[in-house]
Amino acid sequence: MTDPRLADLAARSPGLRLLTEPADLVHYGRDWTRRWTPAPIAIALPSSVAEVQDVVRWANDHRIALVPSGGRTGLSGGAVAAHGELVLSLERMHRVLGFSPAGRLLAVQAGITLQAAQEAARAHGLIYPVDFAARGSCTIGGNVATNAGGIRVIRYGNTRDWIAGLTVVTGEGELIELNRGLVKNSSGYDLRQLMIGSEGTLGVVVGALLELTDPPPPAQVMLLALPDIDAVLAVFALFRRRLSLQAFEFFTDVALAHVLAHGAQRALAGEYPCYVVTEFDAADEAAQQAALAAFEEGAAQGWIIDGVIAQSQAQAEALWRLREGITESLAPHKPYKNDVAVRIDAVPAFLGEIQALLAREYPQFEVVWFGHIGDGNLHINILKPAAMDDAAFIAECERVTVLLAAVLEKHGGSISAEHGIGLVKRPYLESTRSAAEIALMCGIKRVFDPQRLLNPGKLFPVD
Ligand code: MLT
Ligand code: ZN
Repeated sequence: MTDPRLADLAARSPGLRLLTEPADLVHYGRDWTRRWTPAPIAIALPSSVAEVQDVVRWANDHRIALVPSGGRTGLSGGAVAAHGELVLSLERMHRVLGFSPAGRLLAVQAGITLQAAQEAARAHGLIYPVDFAARGSCTIGGNVATNAGGIRVIRYGNTRDWIAGLTVVTGEGELIELNRGLVKNSSGYDLRQLMIGSEGTLGVVVGALLELTDPPPPAQVMLLALPDIDAVLAVFALFRRRLSLQAFEFFTDVALAHVLAHGAQRALAGEYPCYVVTEFDAADEAAQQAALAAFEEGAAQGWIIDGVIAQSQAQAEALWRLREGITESLAPHKPYKNDVAVRIDAVPAFLGEIQALLAREYPQFEVVWFGHIGDGNLHINILKPAAMDDAAFIAECERVTVLLAAVLEKHGGSISAEHGIGLVKRPYLESTRSAAEIALMCGIKRVFDPQRLLNPGKLFPVD
């Protein structure tokens, strides 16, 4: 270690793994945004809570910024280290620590992947129901940091609904146990909920108690083709009334074209403006008949043009791939991502306004719409025209986001539904949160992290 500050860290915490090779700095210094050039001073890979505390105390002594890091699948730059920070990766802390059958709680270290946590739950005959496409790489710590949502929120809610306890190292290195799995705990502020969604700015999550639940009854997966967004919302209301929905996901013909070009299999012969992949309980004949009846009613109303029900697990997975493969299929086009939320009843007006605005002001951009429509959560991805330079594209997209933020504000929406604010949406936080709220958030940050060492530059408009 040529840097004396790193030599000091190595001396204080002899078991701590530290990486300084250029390839490691790049690998751990970025997330899926790929917009910033990674430049951390080093990567620390603790294997225990004590080592995390060593790192945080050392950072306080040397006033070095820390970037807590999970699977780095984030899309808002929340895990980017571009300014000489130390990346604090929880990757080696990935164990299941215990299971309580009576409480149905799974204790995990923060670096466990969502998929490994889901598999551990299934081994006990239960499920951890938060779910989304990045499950194999993203970690529970990162899910907590952004209050991750995903594809089953209409049924199960967000990450914050499934966290019964958190173990956190604060910005000064103090270890706190929050809520400890209690179902009832009326003893003042719920700091656990404050940590969830704080994007690594208040503390380093080192462990979590995940609440588990019964697996849902056997489900069926349906792909629907629809004429427009009004029809999507009408079918959502119809299906929600008639069926027990687990997921209701929307995408456009443009999104489908990218997934098909990326290797997914076409499921319907024709081409249509909008699609929905929906999953619903179908335990018995009656539930399956109810689904068919709902489909027929939607078709009779002119809301559904075509559709298919998966007849096997493999077909169900193939239908899901049409939705879950969108992010990966867009990646080569360097998309500028917007992840917005409005109340479900505001979706048609909001969407109409934004579509008109984009078509009028930015006809040169290909815009891909998809998302968790049942939650009012839309992903608006603007693709970079091949001939356009990266910086000019981002500058142009930021101008779009200013307009988008104003429309969102008008409809009472949020500039981030589930990806977090990070670096990407930091300039627009004020469109979603009032000045009074932001001032209170800054005050909270000062209490947990007085030297402002935890993920500086993220979340707050002015740091
Ligand atoms: C998804 O739901 O697939 C991702 O959150 C959205 C995205 O890649 O923009
Ligand atoms: Zn999403």
